[in-house]
Amino acid sequence: MKIVVIGSGYVGLVSACCLANSGHEVWTVEKDPKRFSTLKEGHMPIHEAGLDKLFEKCFNNTLFVENSLRTVPNAVSVAIIAVGTPSRTDGTVDLSQIETVIEELTAWCDYNLTIVMKSTVPPGTGQELMKKYFARLDKDFTYVSNPEFLREGSAIADWYLPDRIVLGSTNEAGIQIMEELYADIKAPIVTMDVTSAEMTKYAANAFLATKISFINEIACLCEKVSADVDCVAKGIGFDKRIGPHFLKPGIGYGGSCFPKDTRGLEALSKRHDHSFHLLSAVIEVNKNQVNLAVEKITKSLDGLEGKRICVLGLAFKPGTDDIRESPGIEIVAKLVSAKALVTVVDPIAMESFKAKYSQWKLTYCHEESLELGTNSQAIVIATDWPQFIQLDWCAIYNRMLQPRVILDGRNCLDAEKMKRIGFVYLAFGRRNDL
Ligand code: UDX
Repeated sequence: MKIVVIGSGYVGLVSACCLANSGHEVWTVEKDPKRFSTLKEGHMPIHEAGLDKLFEKCFNNTLFVENSLRTVPNAVSVAIIAVGTPSRTDGTVDLSQIETVIEELTAWCDYNLTIVMKSTVPPGTGQELMKKYFARLDKDFTYVSNPEFLREGSAIADWYLPDRIVLGSTNEAGIQIMEELYADIKAPIVTMDVTSAEMTKYAANAFLATKISFINEIACLCEKVSADVDCVAKGIGFDKRIGPHFLKPGIGYGGSCFPKDTRGLEALSKRHDHSFHLLSAVIEVNKNQVNLAVEKITKSLDGLEGKRICVLGLAFKPGTDDIRESPGIEIVAKLVSAKALVTVVDPIAMESFKAKYSQWKLTYCHEESLELGTNSQAIVIATDWPQFIQLDWCAIYNRMLQPRVILDGRNCLDAEKMKRIGFVYLAFGRRNDL
């Protein structure tokens, strides 16, 4: 098939490369000049494991990079929309990029096109877009909602081995064309109406975020009763109705999805006069996790001003350079405003961090540096990069200054080993009395 993908971000680029790799002819349209020129030169503007190899294999072969629909052949059968739908300050979703793309597509295409919405949009958006843009057309566009369930850091695997493909369409033709598009993907296809498909995406992310805030609340209680949250998570995770995943406590969820989508769903509920109490609590609990982390550090150092603290992890999770709504960066911000002397470390996200936060007076350190932790009174693990877990903690202990605190913000280190080395080891819900 001939496909155009509009938006070359974390979702658009993965979709375009995987579809081109599956044998489709794909044009990706990217308006951002810097990102467009990087792609046009054959380079990858984002870090996603394996994507550079896919791009290299397909670029100018089955994948073509454009910066406008004008240079895309007017013969594609599917247009996939993968542009940003950022949060406004009140939590509602900004759909301006989506509307611009739909206007451009309806002006550019003079035949029956299938428009596939892969961007995350509030339930009801598809119906509103069809009413506003399709009704007055003399051509018969088909609209399909096809939300993505890609995790950054494992997006290609999630594309080729999804738990399911969700399709919300206005007609059978839309479903059939999508079955052709995904012909090489072996996964259950769940079909429904457009609004239900949009709600499925929000409900999935809200539920996953709920699991995380739930285990973070249990961790708080474990600390008070001297139970061990890792044991509890393991104990409940064997129940097939609960499952072992997304039960890792710590400084909370970040990224471009969970924070935005939980706020978006809460705002949608309010707009429909429904108080989604559980979701509001999930958001509140998550916001507080960073405060709990800073409180732990402040107490263990008896104040923050002038203290040397090394924060390991700027990306919102391992395997990505994405720093959007990263809890680690929120912690850095609080330490800086408390006048601590902060060093930051991240294997991949350092450049994207520096580009945005150059105004902060920080020290930067490479994770392989033999200086890492030197003269620091505390180290915070904010992102559970494997590189941090494998550090030579005995050597770091000898380079640090008293009281040598480790705040394990992702419960990812071996607590007993850290205590044996001599660290003051702090975490979330792990027993401190062992
Ligand atoms: C998420 C959804 O998983 C994916 O299906 C959707 O399409 C996009 O949003 P992503 O945001 O890339 O994917 O990362 P994910 O692995 O879900 O982690 C999100 C955040 O939750 C990270 O900050 C991570 O550190 C945190 N997390 C995850 C926890 O705090 N505890 C956990 O047990 C799991």
